[in-house]
Amino acid sequence: MKDSIDLVNKSITDFKIDNSAALEQFRIKFLGSKSEIKSLFSELKSVPNDQKKEIGKLLNDLRIFAEETYENHKSKLETISSVKSDVDFSRPGESIQTGAHHPISTVKNEIVEIFNRIGYIVSEGPEIEDDWHNFSALNFPKEHPARDMQDTFFVEKGEREMALRTHTSSVQVRVMENTNPPIRTISPGRVYRNEAISARAHCFFHQVEGLFIDKNVSFADLKQTLLYFAQEMFGEKAQIRMRPSYFPFTEPSAEVDVSCTICNSKGCNVCKYTGWLEILGCGMVDPNVLEASGIDSKIYSGFAFGMGVERITQLKYKVNDLRMYSENDIRFLKQFTPTL
Ligand code: PHE
Repeated sequence: MKDSIDLVNKSITDFKIDNSAALEQFRIKFLGSKSEIKSLFSELKSVPNDQKKEIGKLLNDLRIFAEETYENHKSKLETISSVKSDVDFSRPGESIQTGAHHPISTVKNEIVEIFNRIGYIVSEGPEIEDDWHNFSALNFPKEHPARDMQDTFFVEKGEREMALRTHTSSVQVRVMENTNPPIRTISPGRVYRNEAISARAHCFFHQVEGLFIDKNVSFADLKQTLLYFAQEMFGEKAQIRMRPSYFPFTEPSAEVDVSCTICNSKGCNVCKYTGWLEILGCGMVDPNVLEASGIDSKIYSGFAFGMGVERITQLKYKVNDLRMYSENDIRFLKQFTPTL
């Protein structure tokens, strides 16, 4: 009897069920009214009384094993057939929606990389600044209009009056205070100015400012560095020109134009038919600024420059309304999704 039970057990295990017909055969063979297990049960009568309990248990386990095997295969076959009926494998697939970098981040990263290649390292600082780092250390006279409520957002921080930084030159002061020259650093970040929001102005925007301090740094070094930047950013044919300007923290100071990349300097409405586009401010760091940060201006000199990331992005991607950058309009942002 035990041998017959083992045999049936083995044939249950070996039975191949890969479709519903095979499943039905399995049911008839092991669970139906004329099944092998049923006939074994009917033989139980002839088993000697002292073995009945043991053989009865073995038979019961065999029946449970057959039932479980049947149920498992049945539910497996059901899921396969339901998947088959719901999914049409011939339908075209749905395209995956990919995210994208914001154009301001892309251009900021590109600027940072260009300067990284010539040894500038990134420095960052707080957006809520004190008067010293945003103005005084940068040689802003007390009555300078840039400190005026018109341009600067002032905030209370505990007892102290603080400002939302109006430029990232404040970060460069912090670097000069904490590092011995030579210094080669760029400070990307968000800045704030109290301006009415329009297509051409915004109350916050992004800058990348650079600072280079060493012995014998000259205006020629500044010019060559900026020409390198313009050609990396706008193509090797790009030219720059410098116009005298004024910033409290640099002397001499200049504004830098790049040859118009849109019309190849032939004249168009973006460059207002001048062939040139203004991209940044720069100059030789004023000795007062070096001294204020503890750098000996008799030994060291340096240059600084600062540019608006929105402005560069505008020229690269021909965006003509500054508000686009912060409105999160999906139709605008989608245009910067990389194509797969
Ligand atoms: N800090 C200036 C600005 O915000 C830009 C600048 C930086 C000009 C460094 C000269 C030198 O407009």
